[in-house]
Amino acid sequence: MACLLVTGGAGFIGANFVHYWMNEYPADRVIVLDALTYAGNIQNLAPVNDKSNFRFVHGDIGDTKLVESLLRTENVDTLVHFAAESHVDRSIAGPDAFLETNIMGTHSLLKAARQVWMTEGLNPQNHRFHHVSTDEVFGELTPEEPAFTEKTAYAPNSPYSASKAASDFLVRAYHHTYGLNVTTSNCSNNYGPYHFPEKLIPLVTLNILHGKTLPVYGDGSNVRDWLYVEDHAYGIDLVLKKGKLGETYNIGGVNEWKNIDIVRLICRLVEEKFATDESLKTRFPDCPASRGEANDSLISFVTDRPGHDFRYAIDTTYIRDELGYKPKVTFEEGIRKTLDWYLDNEDWWRAVMDGSYQDWINTNYAQMSR
Ligand SMILES: NC(=O)c1ccc[n+]([C@@H]2O[C@H](COP(=O)([O-])OP(=O)(O)OC[C@H]3O[C@@H](n4cnc5c(N)ncnc54)[C@H](O)[C@@H]3O)[C@@H](O)[C@H]2O)c1
Repeated sequence: MACLLVTGGAGFIGANFVHYWMNEYPADRVIVLDALTYAGNIQNLAPVNDKSNFRFVHGDIGDTKLVESLLRTENVDTLVHFAAESHVDRSIAGPDAFLETNIMGTHSLLKAARQVWMTEGLNPQNHRFHHVSTDEVFGELTPEEPAFTEKTAYAPNSPYSASKAASDFLVRAYHHTYGLNVTTSNCSNNYGPYHFPEKLIPLVTLNILHGKTLPVYGDGSNVRDWLYVEDHAYGIDLVLKKGKLGETYNIGGVNEWKNIDIVRLICRLVEEKFATDESLKTRFPDCPASRGEANDSLISFVTDRPGHDFRYAIDTTYIRDELGYKPKVTFEEGIRKTLDWYLDNEDWWRAVMDGSYQDWINTNYAQMSR
């Protein structure tokens, strides 16, 4: 039986990973350590919170002593590190938190892991530190350039990607210098349930439902490679089970879309939903589709983000050939599942968007932490 410490497990990808893992490996114990920043949401863990092999700990990855004590008392053998400041726009407005969490926070975890697993000898051989990173560390591609491979030189362009690049290098250094058992994955853009509504796909979905403007940066031609979040969890699973120590693996959907095309696609899928489900017109009267109008009338092109990377694309040859990885969910299927999830989970996104969630944390947090 394994015991996992999952940092950032109350965030979008971390929570999906916890659900995936507890479903696939019900005998394993999972501890989530999360500071519950604005992006963390304990409701994302509601489906597992009552399980006896799950524990939520409210805390900061920068608290090295807390992490050391969790590794010792829970006899953790696997640390999967998702916790981060993750929104590029926020990193442009205020980079400090990104350096603190993504660089210093990652270093705090590495120090704790080395101390407990190696220096104290709790688990000198069979431990694993898996670091979750992003394709944004590679910088940007022109339309003609080949996709990023594991050998592509790092060229981060935003404070977010620079902080993630620094954390990747620290993880690498702890392997080469101290022999810590590490792996790293660099993944493309994720989408799916529990995605915080400041990111493109949920933002567009919810703005359409409310008849609000759909802001699209520049002319909308920037390209991203989209992966259903459960397929990211599956890729990490393969790296944990079969990956080579000290290695990095690119995970992606081989599924490139221009931003404007994604926005238009969601407009169309929402129209289809409204055409087949009359109750949506009552629930969302401000949606153009409620009046039989085109949702894409809401699109508004806005001034481009400073330093906006033009294109990201991941070459998944290595993880496919070495570990047999292939995404299981097609984009057509994944985007429909995502839209259905947002329509079925109105309470979740309303709580996140109206801020009442933070009040809820302050009053209820003590009961949820155990
Ligand atoms: N979202 C994507 O498309 C994407 C793609 C590739 C890689 N990644 C990486 O995956 C990871 C997770 O991304 P996400 O989109 O789920 O992010 P998110 O912003 O939704 O979640 C981050 C989580 O980390 C927690 N956290 C932040 N600072 C913390 C701290 N100091 N101590 C403990 N917990 C803290 C937050 O409370 C939150 O629950 C990040 O490392 C990100 O760089 C994200």
